[in-house]
This record gives sequence, C-alpha cells and structure tokens, in this order.
Amino acid sequence: MAPDYQRLGRGGDFTGMALKYQCAKALTVLSMAAIVILAFSSMFYTGHTDIQYAEDNDVAYSVPDHKSDADKPVEAGTGDYEMPATQGKCTLPSSLALPKSEDGSYTPTSPHYTILDILSAVPEDDYDQYCQGWRVLNSANPPYKYNLNGECGNWQNSYIALHKKRLEQLEALQTHSYDMLREQDKPQYIVYKCIQVATNGNRGCGGLADRMSGMISTFFHALMTDKAYFAYWDGENPFSLDILFEKPHINWHYDMDTMEELFTNPPDDAYLTNEHVDLLNAKWATMETKIFPEGRTQNLSDLWPSSLVEVRSNRGYIIHTFESSDIYPDILHKMGLTPENAFGCLTDFLFKPTIGSRRFIDAYKNLLELDSIFSVGIQIRTGDNQIVNPQDDELTVDSYSYFLTCANQLTEAYRKPHHKRVIYFLITDSSKLRDEMMALNDDPAMQLKYLGNEDATILTTGLPIEHLEPNQVAKYINITEPHIETEEEKVAGINSAVIENWLLASTTYRVISPQGYGKLAAFHSNVDRATYSMPRPDRKDKAPNCGNPHAAISFADLSRLWSLG
Ligand SMILES: *[C@@H]1O[C@H](CO)[C@@H](O)[C@H](O)[C@H]1NC(C)=O
Ligand SMILES: *[C@@H]1O[C@H](CO)[C@@H](O)[C@H](O)[C@H]1NC(C)=O
Repeated sequence: MAPDYQRLGRGGDFTGMALKYQCAKALTVLSMAAIVILAFSSMFYTGHTDIQYAEDNDVAYSVPDHKSDADKPVEAGTGDYEMPATQGKCTLPSSLALPKSEDGSYTPTSPHYTILDILSAVPEDDYDQYCQGWRVLNSANPPYKYNLNGECGNWQNSYIALHKKRLEQLEALQTHSYDMLREQDKPQYIVYKCIQVATNGNRGCGGLADRMSGMISTFFHALMTDKAYFAYWDGENPFSLDILFEKPHINWHYDMDTMEELFTNPPDDAYLTNEHVDLLNAKWATMETKIFPEGRTQNLSDLWPSSLVEVRSNRGYIIHTFESSDIYPDILHKMGLTPENAFGCLTDFLFKPTIGSRRFIDAYKNLLELDSIFSVGIQIRTGDNQIVNPQDDELTVDSYSYFLTCANQLTEAYRKPHHKRVIYFLITDSSKLRDEMMALNDDPAMQLKYLGNEDATILTTGLPIEHLEPNQVAKYINITEPHIETEEEKVAGINSAVIENWLLASTTYRVISPQGYGKLAAFHSNVDRATYSMPRPDRKDKAPNCGNPHAAISFADLSRLWSLG
C-alpha cells in the first residue's frame, strides 16, 4: 500500500451548520413523535393501557384490556424471535436507534428521523406493519429473505453441494491424496481477486460497481462450469471482503497464500495448474473475443482449463451471455435465471451485508414496501471533487433539479390512489447537495416547487459519503485538506456505499447518473425498465421525459455501458 495514501474522510452531515440544523430538527421530531405515540394510544385504548417495553429492543407494546380491531393477530415473520402472547398495538420508539451489532461488525448510525416523519402520515395498518417489522429487524437474528417463493430459481442446492464437494477435493489436493481424486471429475477453482491498490497507470479494482460486476460475473462463470467460487479483496484495498459481507450459502473465503502455494509450485501433476485472466476495463467487443472466441456455441468450460483460475475483472458478462450464446439462455431459463433476475439473484446468494447494515437496510426497505408508499430512488453522482474536497462543495438543488423533474414525472405517471406518500430516496456524493435537498422537506413553497407535491418527501440515509479508491482520485484532483482515514471510517464508508446501493435497488423506480453505481442497483432490483438514466448537468436539456415508458433504460442497454453487464 502506498504510504502517501491520503484522503479526506467524510463525516456526512456532522459539521457546523448541518449539525446544528440536525439537532434542532431532531428535537422537533422527538416531540412530534411523542405526540404521535400519544395520539395512537388515545385512539385505540379507552381503558387503561399497560405499556410494556421489550427487553432487547426499544419497541413499546401497549396491550389493551379489551377486544378491539387493534387486537387482531400479527403475522409472525420467519425469524427466531418470539411474539408476545397477547398481541397489542405496536408503537415505535421516539428515535430509530439500532442495537450495537452483536458480532462486533459495523453498526451504522440511526436511520434518518425523516422515516418517523413519513410514518406519522401513513394509514394505521401501514404504521403497524412497519412497527412490527422494526421489532423483527431489531431481534437477535432477523430473517434474510432469499428465494422464499422460488423467484431466484432452483439451482442453489446443487451449487452448494458442488461447492462443498470441491472444498473436500481441495483438502485431498492439499494432502496429496490423488487416489481419491482419480475416481472423480477433475476439480476446478475460480477466484475473483482484487489485489492492487491503485497507482498511476493501474486502475486497481475500481469502485463498488466495478468490483461487484467482476465478482458476480466470475461467480456466474463458476456456476456455468462447475467450478468452486472464491472472492478476495486485499486487506489494504481497503479491507478484507470477509469484513463487508457474510457468506449465507457457500464459503467463498479465499486463503490466498495456501492456494497459490498449492497451485503455483505444483509437483508435476495435472490437477495443479493455474492461470490468470485479466478482463479489467475490457470493452464489449473485447469481451466478445474473450468469452465467446468460438461464437454463439462457445462452451464456457473450454475457456480457462486450469485447475485454479485467478480473475482480475471489473466487467459483467451475464446479460452478454444471454445475448451472445445459443446454448446458455436455455440452460439458464431451466435454472430459473433470466436477464432480469440473474444479477440480483447471484448477488444475494453470495453476499449478505453484515447484521448492522442489514438492520439499517430493512429499516428503509420496510418503509419503501408499504402499500401507501410510492418510491423513486435518485442517485446523483456529482464528481469526485465533492468527496475529496468537501469544503469546496457549492452545489445547489438547481444544478440537479432535472433529476427531481424526472422523479416528478414518474410520480405523475404511476402514482396510484393508495399511495398516500411519495418518497424520493436520495443518494449523492455531495453532502452539500444532500443537505440542500433535505431542506426542501421543511419549506412548503420549495417543496411544491421542486417535489411537485405536498405529499412528497426527500429521504436519505445520512450515512458517511465515501469513494472506494480515493487515491485513484488523487491523481487528477488536488486534495487540499488531506485526512488519513481510520479503519473504522473506511468500514463505515464502504458499508454506506453497500447499504445505499441495496436500497436504491429497493425503490420502485430509479433516476440515476450514467456511471456504474446506479446501474449496479438497477441490475440488483431484478426489474427491467424501471430505471431512467440522466445526462450530466452540461447536457441536461437531453434529459428524457420520464413519464414516457419508452424513456426507461433497458438492462440490455445498461449492459453495454461502463462496467458492461
Ligand atoms: C461443455 O463441455 C463439457 C465437457 O468438456 C461438458 O461436460 C458440458 O456439458 C459442456 N457444456 C455445455 C453447455 O455444452
Ligand atoms: C495541484 O496543485 C499544484 C500546485 O498547487 C498545481 O501545480 C497542479 O496543477 C494542481 N493539479 C490539479 C490537477 O489541479
């Protein structure tokens, strides 16, 4: 790692004016929340109520002493928490603080108080649903919903079994028990490897979108060719992948030293060969020659024959395979995978955010999923200068209001009568812009002007803003007030990028900047043609009319841009 690796951390909103504003706002919301809670209890309970506080979370249950509508049973989730014997009306705490992550992994700051503002104006059924969900996500082991209704196909168990067999074969290779192996098919292993810290002339591994494209497509290859899959980030770039994600189904941890020792210094044996595949920054045409050298009947198993394949890549080729192969689309469809769900289903199979991030994600997702909510995600990438030199950030709402115009057009076109509230979930790399956009919520005239609607609210996470490879950025931007980040700040920054991306995938529509980050969320949403790509500010007159369904950008088009797909 370069010793002169310096960068500015970004404390989100935690500076000067913003902090003051937040404190004042938080106090108002606190008192408002108290009023809401009082209002709820007086609405439902005429008799005396017995308020109980659950021990390991902050949700209050008021148990009525007579039968009422509020007394109807609550559906239990699939988590291993227990519902109270008597079901009562659920009320949320006055601030949505998350518990400290039990396993020592990252604990995010509290979900934004705007969530409580929004919940104060949804129908009571939705409030109750959210409140129950809040309790579940705060429990010791909140459920991770994956493929509950087969929406991700039927391939998971056989791949899990294959991976397990390959790991057993690896043990045999390590102990040189070749006799056992001779009876079986020859094991193959493939690893997505991110080593390099970026330096001049070497783009390193790229940002989150680059890395996810490389990692997911490498797994796609493993799945198509019966290879065991591993994923690896160097501990300094910016930290080990094992810290960022849990492994819900297969153990993709890569023991690099052991593997390289085993496969690169082999005794003369056909089992132990390795090769490096480099797909970094390849364009579509190059990918065509690298993945489909024999054209539409290419067998992916014939591509990289070594027993260990080490891949350096920031490129996707899943949708590409659907388009360029005559063989695989059929195989994939039988597995339950389509161009629309493949990227998301593979991502969620491999990578489960750690518990704190998951709780934070669910705190927003549960809101976005309510019947009474209409949601549009807005992702505005303003450029790296805002991240590394926040003190120079002078962006205003006006410079990017065309993103809001697109969101307003979507609301006008698709909002239904049951959508009582409209949420514009905003992600941006400029904390100045984020503050300015949030301030629209508090000024009715501005809200009407920019959000087009008094039911619309800008929602953000308030999490720190971070670029994955800041010293890459330092090549072309002078960092005027350098700050060396602590390990905690790095972990918080990258978790924020993951959380916000997963949430952008959860909104009904997306309005994105053209680069990889927004595209990643579009693919992860598993819904084609619900994403609108906005031009840069100097070409904003080219912005589409988002009320026109044909203006949405398709997965096929997205897969030909940036990190491909
Ligand atoms: C690719 O070739 C292997 C043998 O090398 C074979 O087992 C496999 O079925 C082939 N895959 C496809 C999709 O034809
Ligand atoms: C960075 O600052 C140095 C010295 O102030 C200047 O010479 C250089 O051109 C600047 N580089 C960029 C990319 O602005």
